[in-house]
Parts: sequence; structure tokens; C-alpha cells
Amino acid sequence: MGLNRLWVHLIDVDLPTLSTTNRRMLTITTTFLLAASAFLRAAANPVSSGSGALNDIDGQRFVQINVPSLPTDTSLKVIPDAQHPFVAPGPNDKRGPCPGLNTLANHGYLPHNGIASFEQLIYGVEGGYNMEHDLASALSALAILARGNAFINLVSIGGVSDQVPPLPGKIDGPTAGGLSKHGRFEGDVSLTRHDIGEGDYQNFQDKLYDQFLTYVGRYGGDSPTSGNASVVTLRVLQEYKYHRFLSEQASDPNLEFSIARMILSYDDAAFLLNFFANGTENIVDTDILGSFFRNQTFPPNWHRRGSPGDFTVNQNTAAAILSAHPLVPGTNKDGVWTPDAPLNTGSTFKDVHLNIMQNLASSLNTVTGDLKTNVETLLAALAKPFGVDPTKVRPKGTPGQ
Ligand code: HEM
Ligand SMILES: *[C@@H]1O[C@H](CO)[C@@H](O)[C@H](O)[C@H]1NC(C)=O
Ligand SMILES: *[C@@H]1O[C@H](CO)[C@@H](O)[C@H](O)[C@H]1NC(C)=O
Ligand SMILES: *[C@@H]1O[C@H](CO)[C@@H](O)[C@H](O)[C@H]1NC(C)=O
Repeated sequence: MGLNRLWVHLIDVDLPTLSTTNRRMLTITTTFLLAASAFLRAAANPVSSGSGALNDIDGQRFVQINVPSLPTDTSLKVIPDAQHPFVAPGPNDKRGPCPGLNTLANHGYLPHNGIASFEQLIYGVEGGYNMEHDLASALSALAILARGNAFINLVSIGGVSDQVPPLPGKIDGPTAGGLSKHGRFEGDVSLTRHDIGEGDYQNFQDKLYDQFLTYVGRYGGDSPTSGNASVVTLRVLQEYKYHRFLSEQASDPNLEFSIARMILSYDDAAFLLNFFANGTENIVDTDILGSFFRNQTFPPNWHRRGSPGDFTVNQNTAAAILSAHPLVPGTNKDGVWTPDAPLNTGSTFKDVHLNIMQNLASSLNTVTGDLKTNVETLLAALAKPFGVDPTKVRPKGTPGQ
């Protein structure tokens, strides 16, 4: 009840408006581009800070994590550029539950093998989608902390990989999980993935996507190019997300829909409107939707948004989606819906941050040396958009969960 009121409070719809930013054409030689990308790669993956083998633990080489500086180019432009054509993933390339990241990896905006550092994730979502720096940093920090290895600064965007061993001493369980691992980040009531225990919870599902399309058909907007009822609008997501919740609440006896999962899942739906839209006209039609979700490739002649999309813009959209059918967080316990006890921090954002911390491994508090440096850098990047003091709200989840 209190939560719903908080949400109403947050609703101050501010969907990104049509941008008229001019596309600046730069003539840059291929040699320059190659040199620049080699430089960026080196900056994203510095070899340990000079002390070499002294930093190695458990056969792992420490890699210092640094929040990169702000991007210099945040203009509207066609993505991908000529240097980033689609290359289908091979059998050993990792892909997972995020259509945004899978698409970046298919185009080489992230390493094609699907194993990325904190800095590479940030450069990827900034370059490909114009995601704002602090939002990009917070998501990337959660990815490395929750499902990657903060000592060697890597995470798999899919399942477990030999290239991302567990943390030294296995202080957060025997594997690093990868973003596909359920809990902490991947969760229930996705748009196009089943709940865990109900089927494939990592990969795109035609059956769910077809349901999604029926909601576009019923509630979608008209377009002269893609046809009537072919545009994904706020209304489509309001109705489809609610349908997904009701359907999982009825069919998944172990549904987990905590405050963090609820808000993150509505954030993902908001990403769809804010980051998959063609930046020139701010429209996601069914061609664009199919290209990202089904084919995991940028649509032809697609433009990224013309201004950085930040935490506030996206939370406003998420709140607008949720406002049509407000929900309370809860879980199904043996099939019985049970609302969660309120966290009572006084703010929905702080509740979400606290709930994320309740799931990150408590063992991250007792690390020392190089690992501590990286962990604190990531905890600070994660806390920043929530306006929380990262030294006060600490990880307290069970390691390995
Ligand atoms: C570093 C940044 C990002 C990380 C670490 C990340 C990670 C994830 C993860 C773990 C999920 C699965 C959640 C679930 O179980 O449903 C997810 C879902 C999703 N992400 Fe991302 N993501 C990032 C950026 C983006 C961007 C930039 C976009 C859009 C361009 C995007 C679009 C989506 C969408 C639409 C879903 C929901 C898929 C579905 O429900 O079927 N993400 N993301
Ligand atoms: C779309 O709808 C408009 C008005 O409702 C109608 O005039 C038009 O013929 C429709 N277009 C298509 C392609 O069906
Ligand atoms: C997906 O790829 C297939 C095969 O290349 C193509 O025929 C189809 O049109 C694409 N779909 C979308 C929605 O882009
Ligand atoms: C994006 O909008 C531009 C300008 O209206 C258009 O030329 C282009 O085809 C659109 N791209 C997609 C993928 O819809």
C-alpha cells in the first residue's frame, strides 16, 4: 500500500522526446579507428599495475578496475558503424538473458566471445545505445559483483565460462555464474524468457514473444511504414507486463518477485522503450523489436538515441509502466502468494538498493588488498544512482547463492 503510494509519487512521465540533433559526419581514416580501438581495449584491460606476479592469487592475475571517463561522443548516429558488422555467435561464444548485451556482442561492441570487463560493458552500452555513464556503470558494477570475478575484472554475459573462474579462495561459491545464473540479476517475470523451473529461463522464447506480439496487436500504435498496431507503446508494456506477472503468479509455484526483481524487471521493459527505439523518431515497431529480440542484431538503418538515457529517465518510464497496474513485491511459497515484508528505508530506490545488497555475498566485506580496492570501486558505482552511501549499506547475502 505504502509502496504503491511511493510509486505514484515517482510518476512524472518524462519519455524521451524526439530529438533533432544533427548527425555530424566525421571523416576518419580506418588506420585512426583501428589505433583508437586498440587504445580503448588497452585502457579497458590494463595488465596489473606494475607489480606483476606479486598480484597473482590462485593462478589469477589481478586487473585493476577504474571507472572510465565520460564518453566524448553522445550524438545521434547510425549503429552499427562499418567496423561492427553482425557476426553470428559460435558454439563457444556466451550469450544470455539480455538482448541488449547479446546484440552488442554479435556486433563486436562487446568481445564476441561474450566475456567482458567492467569498462568494456560501459563502453559497449554507451557506444551502442547511448546509455548514460552512471547508469551504465551501476549495471556493469552489479554484473561483475553479482555474477563475475571482481579480481580479474570479467563477467560472462551468458553461462559459466572457463575464462571467468570463481573469485580467489572461492569466497562466493565454486563458479562465477555468469549473467545467466538465476538470482541477484537474472530473475522471474521476464518479457521473453521463462521463469526458472518453468523452462528455458536464459534464451529467447518464441511462445512468449508471440504473446507479446498479440499485445502489440491489441494496444500498439500505428505506423505508416510498419503498419497499424505495430508500434510498442507505453500501453503495450503496461498490459503485457501485468499479464506476465499474473500468468507467472498463477503458474510458477516458486515465483520470486522481490522489490529489486520487480523494479529491475520493469526497468528492463523501460530499456526497451528508451534504448531500442530508433533515435530519429523514438519508435520501436515490430521490425525493430524482432531484430533485437529474435535475431539479436541491430535493425538496418537504426539510430541510437540522441542524448544519454539516464537512471531518472528510465525509472520514470518504469514507474509509468507499473502505474497502470501497481503491484506489491512478494513470492509464491509452495504456490501461495505471500507479499514481502516492507523494507521501510523510506524510499523505493533505497529499498531496491538494500534488496540488491541482501543478495550480494557478505564475504565481499572481508576481502583485503587488491580485491578490496576493486570491490569498493564497484560498490560505489552501483550505489551512486540510488543516492546511497556505499560504506553504510553493505552486501549481506549468502555466498554462492
Ligand atoms: C551493462 C549493462 C547491462 C547489463 C549488465 C544487463 C543485464 C541484463 C540481465 C542480467 C537481464 C536478465 C533479467 C531477466 O531475468 O529478465 C537483462 C534483461 C534485459 N535487458 Fe539488459 N543489461 C544491460 C543493458 C541493457 C541495455 C543497454 C538494454 C537495451 C538496449 C537492455 C535490455 C534488456 C531487456 C529488454 C531485458 C529483458 C529481456 C526479457 O525480459 O526478455 N539491457 N539485462
Ligand atoms: C490504418 O488505420 C487507418 C485509420 O484507422 C486506416 O485508414 C488505414 O487504412 C489503416 N492502414 C492499414 C495499412 O491498414
Ligand atoms: C531475422 O533474420 C532472418 C534471417 O536472416 C530474416 O529473414 C528476418 O527478416 C529477420 N527478422 C527480423 C525481425 O529482423
Ligand atoms: C529510423 O528513422 C529514420 C528516419 O525516419 C528512417 O530513415 C530509418 O529507416 C528508421 N530506422 C528503423 C530501423 O526503423
